[in-house]
Amino acid sequence: MFDFFKNSKPRELETIPKHIGIIMDGNGRWAKKRMQPRVFGHKAGMDALQDITLMSSNIGVKVLTVYAFSTENWSRPEDEVSFIMKLPVDFFDKYVPKLHENNVKIQVMGERDRLPKETLKALEDACQLTKNNTGLILNFALNYGGRAELTKAMKEISEKVSQGILTTEDITEKVISDHLMTSELPEIYRNPDLIIRTSGEIRLSNFLPWQSAYSEFYFTPVFWPDFNQEEFTKALEEYSHRQRRFGKV
Ligand code: FPP
Repeated sequence: MFDFFKNSKPRELETIPKHIGIIMDGNGRWAKKRMQPRVFGHKAGMDALQDITLMSSNIGVKVLTVYAFSTENWSRPEDEVSFIMKLPVDFFDKYVPKLHENNVKIQVMGERDRLPKETLKALEDACQLTKNNTGLILNFALNYGGRAELTKAMKEISEKVSQGILTTEDITEKVISDHLMTSELPEIYRNPDLIIRTSGEIRLSNFLPWQSAYSEFYFTPVFWPDFNQEEFTKALEEYSHRQRRFGKV
């Protein structure tokens, strides 16, 4: 179906990343280039997200974690924030039925407190509808920030130590991982194998700082709404040639 597969050697097929994290950047600039308001870019970004999710599901990716809104994004103009907060409502009507048909399970991680009620409801409905699906997990990082996640985990762990539920010696990497927001994912797929960032920015911006310790990174100048199947194939191809040694020789 995809050129990547038609021309791939068996080794490349074995190297499909199981968990991919995506920083979907460049929606605003994409819209500006077309002399449209920034929110037009976010709408187009949802189409790109749908295509990449369906392709990921077809090729056997297990988890796709997408950075949809960071804890720092609240400082954007109010009308843009409120537009982004309405996206999950559109998402539920327009995109979820097809994802559900494709056995995709939707999950959300991030601080829920500050999200508007309708946003939360649309997301919860999507999670509820797809909760028994067994295919790809589409994991939205929404109002997510990596440092906030680590701070919360440290507070929870120290609380357990002060209550005598855990001792200091009990604190292992696994215990820390169990207290992060990715603990809702199947344990073997918690950490992304590959992180993609579009739009030419070369940084993580507080996205999965713990979980990305051994991730491969792929940066492309392409703006997120233009990140199509062909661009995704380039990222997968490049990943398939990387050698992951996890600190070994
Ligand atoms: C970054 O582009 C993009 C965002 C902050 C929002 C991305 C959200 C989606 C694509 C849809 C999410 C869907 C749901 C259901 C929540 P930017 O605005 O930073 O672009 P710029 O860097 O060009 O300004």
